[in-house]
Amino acid sequence: MRKNLSEYKKDDKVLDFFMVKSCELRTSNKGGEYMDMVISDNSGEMVAKVWDMNRDDTAAVKDIQGRDIVKIQGVVTEWNGAKQLKILKIRKAAESDEVNVSELVKSAPYSGERLYDMVCEKAEDIKDKELRLITLTLIEDNAGKLKYFPAASKNHHAIKGGLLYHMYRMLLHAEMLCDIYPMLSKDLLVCGVIVHDMAKVEEIDADEFGIADSYTFEGQMLGHIIQGIKMLETVCERFKISEEKKIMVQHMILSHHYEPEFGSPKKPMFPEAEMLHYLDIIDARIYDMESVLEGVEPGEFSEKIWSMDNRKMYKPSFGE
Ligand SMILES: [Fe+2]
Ligand SMILES: [Fe+2]
Repeated sequence: MRKNLSEYKKDDKVLDFFMVKSCELRTSNKGGEYMDMVISDNSGEMVAKVWDMNRDDTAAVKDIQGRDIVKIQGVVTEWNGAKQLKILKIRKAAESDEVNVSELVKSAPYSGERLYDMVCEKAEDIKDKELRLITLTLIEDNAGKLKYFPAASKNHHAIKGGLLYHMYRMLLHAEMLCDIYPMLSKDLLVCGVIVHDMAKVEEIDADEFGIADSYTFEGQMLGHIIQGIKMLETVCERFKISEEKKIMVQHMILSHHYEPEFGSPKKPMFPEAEMLHYLDIIDARIYDMESVLEGVEPGEFSEKIWSMDNRKMYKPSFGE
């Protein structure tokens, strides 16, 4: 039985296969070279370093790249409250090694198929015919990619199936909030949640492991907000959707990042659009906090997290 990466503690010895998520040769302050990696399995990720680059196998170590499957011997250390792996030996997996790749890729807690079905079910519940048609068409048109796509290349939901998982958790929130605030149109909010980041399948360049380290040309030039608005325009044109609904859903896509510096030229102008933004923020933030805390020992702080305004996260020493 394989031990999960997230279960390792400081000073534990490691001898197992992992996937290299990213890998870069760097120079330390003292001028020496070291290899800076992020390795993963399906339970999480860990920063890993090869400090000694004057070794017999230096050329082979330098040859390692992102997405390689490697066998690592090392020891878990700690740096600024976070676990880090000091690699003593590393080699690429050979054909003869029996490795189950799905154990090495961080994935959403449900399979792509299951998430797809769960999100489709919510879309089928939309009562408004036109909104249901737009939503289901966009899901079905992008079904292939959605089943493995991450929601980002770094940070929130950068995992296999992350985009659907992000939509699914937001949908669960949306349903509850519509019970609390009955004036909200559930149809509009469910549609907005499902389509708001749909164009990430065209913005990000990801492989079938849900790993992305680049953006498409159009993604870099336009971004998923503008790409999403284009996507919606095409679908609405195809089914002759009413102008008011088309523009309201486009406005939800347009305003979901809220601030111009984050890509939204306008702030939300109706309650469902406002709510969509906050659902998006809640799900992304809590996801990021969860993943940071995975690598932190109880009773310790994480290092400062740049994507969270340089805050440190604390993991309590009590509870589970
Ligand atoms: Fe977004
Ligand atoms: Fe989002």
